[in-house]
Amino acid sequence: MGADTNPPDNALETWSEDESRAFVEFGRAMVPGREEIESTILDLLPAASAEPFVSVEIGTGTGWLCAAVLQAFPEARMVGLDGSKEMLTTAGELLAPYRDRVELRPFRLEEGSWVDGLPPVRVFLSSLVLHHLDGSGKRELFARLFDRLPSNTWVVVTSDHGELFGEDRYFGHGPISHPKVLEVPFVEGMTP
Ligand SMILES: C[S@@+](CC[C@H](N)C(=O)[O-])C[C@H]1O[C@@H](n2cnc3c(N)ncnc32)[C@H](O)[C@@H]1O
Repeated sequence: MGADTNPPDNALETWSEDESRAFVEFGRAMVPGREEIESTILDLLPAASAEPFVSVEIGTGTGWLCAAVLQAFPEARMVGLDGSKEMLTTAGELLAPYRDRVELRPFRLEEGSWVDGLPPVRVFLSSLVLHHLDGSGKRELFARLFDRLPSNTWVVVTSDHGELFGEDRYFGHGPISHPKVLEVPFVEGMTP
């Protein structure tokens, strides 16, 4: 396993090592339904179980999703990216049984250059990380990932809820239940 666990010097803008430690200890309680997230993502991976492919996880945290992919797809290779030293160390321990098929790399989510030095990637995965980017950061990241898609790829972009922008004087998506919150954005189409 290539595991250069030295993240860049400056601390992450929206995440601290204290938060990493708390997440390592209490993440299972903070994120209920992890098994459901895991099985949904595994079902969606566009590969047969014996097929070789490379996947990149953006913000791998403790490495549980990398481990699930590597276990379910014995020929797959993973690159796990994270900006927290604590997380990379924890992920290194969890992923030790798969050391020949996983590489852990430090990265900063806000710096799009991490996309450039990657091998040909079949799947980018991410769970509970991209919300750390602001609106323009998300737009830039999705544009970079979109540019890596082959022609004739069917793209689906969706979300887990709608958003209120002043309807009935409400903003956001809670705590009230409003029909607009149930209008989930969904857009799909083929790459040129
Ligand atoms: C809520 S945790 C989710 C971890 C994992 N994906 C999961 O589902 O358990 C957020 C992860 O994003 C990483 N992260 C947050 N901001 C980051 C940034 N600006 N650059 C790199 N990594 C960042 C944290 O170190 C942490 O591992």
